[in-house]
Amino acid sequence: MVMTPLLADVAVAVIGAGAMGSGIAHVAARAGHRVYLYDTNAEAVSRGRAGIGRDLDFLVGKGRLERAEADAILERVVPTSRLEDLADAGLAVEAIVEKLEVKQELFRRLESLLGADAILATNTSSLSITAIGAALTRPGRLAGLHFFNPAPRMALVEVVSGLATDKPVAEVLYATARAWGKTPVHAGSSPGFIVNRVARPYYAEALRVAGERAASPSTLDAILRDGCGFPMGPFELMDLIGHDVNFAVTRSVFDAYFGDKRFTPSLIQQELVLAGRLGRKTGQGFYDYREGAERPAPVVEAPSTAGAGVVVAGSAGLLEPLVTRLAAAGVPVERREGPGELRVDGARLLLSDGRTATRRAAEEGVPDTMLIDLARDYGKTPRVALARADQCSAAAYDRVVGCLQAGGLVVSRLDDVPGLIALRTVAMLANEAADGAVAGIGTPADIDTAMRLGTNYPEGPLAWADRIGVALVARVLGNLKAHYGEERYRVSPLIQRAACSGAALASG
Ligand code: NAI
Repeated sequence: MVMTPLLADVAVAVIGAGAMGSGIAHVAARAGHRVYLYDTNAEAVSRGRAGIGRDLDFLVGKGRLERAEADAILERVVPTSRLEDLADAGLAVEAIVEKLEVKQELFRRLESLLGADAILATNTSSLSITAIGAALTRPGRLAGLHFFNPAPRMALVEVVSGLATDKPVAEVLYATARAWGKTPVHAGSSPGFIVNRVARPYYAEALRVAGERAASPSTLDAILRDGCGFPMGPFELMDLIGHDVNFAVTRSVFDAYFGDKRFTPSLIQQELVLAGRLGRKTGQGFYDYREGAERPAPVVEAPSTAGAGVVVAGSAGLLEPLVTRLAAAGVPVERREGPGELRVDGARLLLSDGRTATRRAAEEGVPDTMLIDLARDYGKTPRVALARADQCSAAAYDRVVGCLQAGGLVVSRLDDVPGLIALRTVAMLANEAADGAVAGIGTPADIDTAMRLGTNYPEGPLAWADRIGVALVARVLGNLKAHYGEERYRVSPLIQRAACSGAALASG
């Protein structure tokens, strides 16, 4: 790795020795920099430095770092409670309390203290880089350098340019983050930057579906985890992050976008915050973490008898791997001409398109209609979600469930909400990513990279939309908008264009 000469040998000042500051100091010291770790609270500095020591010891214990190297890294972290000691730093990274005036005041002092060539960076998650920079005489040398928690382990760094940030400053920070072993992406200074904006629908759609009481949190978590490969379901993730923090981020993004309906906070989550049920840290959130409490199991269908077999009428499309799987499990499969649907004893099983099963049954004149949710790989997924039309008979539903069970699938049923849970979530993530790309918060490739590395999603939302078909995503969003009559589901101009032209979103 080649570091831009400008920052290769400079001392780095890290201001704020809390969770993020100490992590950033660890990263910079490990990359060879002398690091001043400063905090107004001297205890925080000792705690932060001791934490770095523990992290390094852990790596030594795992055989990933030599003892002598670990000692040298810690040696490079110089603790201080005197701001003047930072004077010769070539790069200052601020990770203090998330308050605009406090950050502005700090940067004003740093501006007069540090050399004229020094670069100033803020790790803010939610404040405007432009607004922080507005307090400076030379705002061009300030940019966001947004790490993720825990900084030593998370690969992503968003390099955020405010309106006044000089391009070379962003470039140098980008090169520096890369030299520190991170994967940087360039981001524009808009609320939430890339990750905290594009991730909003992951929580919002789940809260919405739970708010319609279509399924329990544990069932929805299981569908997104098992069926789509998200590392954590949205409810367990919100419990881990803390509802106070997650709700505050949603509110700040909602306010920052002048009340854009797409970011509307959830009343269910507000209730949890008001009750002090903040998640793991308080022992209760969507789940109960108190001693002896058991997590409710996802709701699954009881074993059922399979129908006579599956008729594939036309192309099964995205469900083709499911057909192959059923056939391999011994379910008789017959192929016929048709509109592209699966039939079990005359009942229809269709991939959702964002309309409800009940609407499709009525519009298409087939009462026995069931919808299947999106899975990342129907050939391997352990679980799928189904919704059934109100007109669908229980017997027809049971036969379809039996067929899927014969193929080794666990079936969880959702009430008949449009887009079920996985499909609407993936469609809305792609929509947010596409709108972000339109607004220039990042290139499509950087947005996908940021979402994979910043949230550990199994696939970037834009690449995911390309894989399942942008036309399908556009249809799902359009149908959600028609169903709810809400601005929240408006289709991004980029998705509308790509759905017409056939262009890929991810490379666009
Ligand atoms: P923290 O509360 O763990 O640490 C903040 C530290 O800053 C404290 O030790 C405090 O004594 C010190 N401090 C406060 N005012 C100061 C001042 N004027 N001068 C010097 N030190 C001061 O907070 P955390 O979680 O480390 O967050 C710090 C920043 O990083 C915030 O801007 C936050 O938005 C951002 N951030 C936080 C992430 C997280 O997951 N915790 C992720 C990414 C960014």
